[in-house]
Amino acid sequence: MNILVLGSGGREHTLAWKIAQSPLCNNLFVAPGNGGTDQVATNLPISVDDFQAVGNAILEHNIDLLVVGPEAPLVAGVRDYLEADERYHNLKIVGPGSKGAQLEGSKDFSKAFMVKHDIPTGKAETFRKGQLSEAINYLDTISPPFVLKADGLAAGKGVIITEDKGEAIKSLKEMLENSMFGEASEKVLIEEFLDGIELSVFVLTDGTNYKILPEAKDYKRIGDGDTGPNTGGMGAISPVSFADDSFMSKVEERIIKPTVNGLREDDIEFIGFIFIGLMNVNGDPYVIEYNVRMGDPETQAVIPRLDTDLAALLKAAATGDLQNTDLAIREDFAATVVMVAGGYPASYNKGDAIEGISNANSLVFHAGTKKDGPGLVTNGGRILAVTALGTDLASTVEKAYDDVTNIRWDNVSYRRDIGKDLLELQ
Ligand code: AMP
Ligand code: GLY
Repeated sequence: MNILVLGSGGREHTLAWKIAQSPLCNNLFVAPGNGGTDQVATNLPISVDDFQAVGNAILEHNIDLLVVGPEAPLVAGVRDYLEADERYHNLKIVGPGSKGAQLEGSKDFSKAFMVKHDIPTGKAETFRKGQLSEAINYLDTISPPFVLKADGLAAGKGVIITEDKGEAIKSLKEMLENSMFGEASEKVLIEEFLDGIELSVFVLTDGTNYKILPEAKDYKRIGDGDTGPNTGGMGAISPVSFADDSFMSKVEERIIKPTVNGLREDDIEFIGFIFIGLMNVNGDPYVIEYNVRMGDPETQAVIPRLDTDLAALLKAAATGDLQNTDLAIREDFAATVVMVAGGYPASYNKGDAIEGISNANSLVFHAGTKKDGPGLVTNGGRILAVTALGTDLASTVEKAYDDVTNIRWDNVSYRRDIGKDLLELQ
């Protein structure tokens, strides 16, 4: 098969790295890719939002399988665009159409879906532009912390959690009246605060059957001890000790089955990944959000644990054949530490020379990197994800940090406590 992966982050490098190992894969392309995907595939200089250019590349390179990494092109309808054109009728796609992608693209839609299908989640009310006073009155009926969520895509920044009612009112005004997140905050959900530990669960579905991939824990805040602003994700650990068989069977029965069946009942054909962000509240799982793609940096910890041909698995999903496919998972632990440009998630420098990758013993997945002559330079906020595999969590985390401390550029930054909370739980 000729395979095209859309995206340019650590997630896409990891997917491409694993797909490239498959005997089923003839030619592998990543668009637009980064300095790491360039080592395992051919990068195509195409924006993921330029569907016409994506379509042309599919024809030019005889692509059989398209794997869509990020959410934006899915929400914008890349599948719908390609399916509507005869020239792509043989193309198989991993990633839902725009209707299914609403599970991530609209928090109002996904909340209504969960309520309809009895999927456990925090209670919420939606308020629209023009309903500011109703939204403020609603705050009087609930207790803090207040969780405010922009309805649409907001690059991971659309959630505000505050104990302070004045702050909540100010944010509601900003969102509903001053378009704080553009169109994304024309509707705002005020959601019940869920007190617990977060977990990322990944499901691959062909629309009927599904496989549950290894779970992971993400570290979203920039600072050690979960402090400072939210980021795209600063590290990941898989497996997660509290996600034992008993907890995961609750997740499967109460969340995964009703989600896959609910999509079918609602006539939403969904082929692709469902990433369930959930909260473990005293041993019971509640959905915080759905994403319609893999997580980043969770992919960097999850995919190296698969002992399965990823190209075969993705093909099976795209052709409705998952029930005949085995998913083998390694017992190993995976620890991923994300290395970022100093200043991220606010402003940061680009173009700094990166040194020391070739001496690493771990897997080094690239995100914001690009080739610069024979060398490699920084080209984004999150630069690298370093993943170590090992037989116990403590030594695996240590292995990852051994490599992280030997990779350098000016003003490199990373969290020093990835996995620490899980080691303390043990
Ligand atoms: P989201 O963009 O929905 O992933 O939310 C960002 C982060 O806000 C999540 O990763 C959680 O840490 C937190 N969060 C979202 N919803 C809730 C909630 N209802 N209760 C507590 N924390 C939440
Ligand atoms: N790591 C969280 C995400 O990919 O949304």
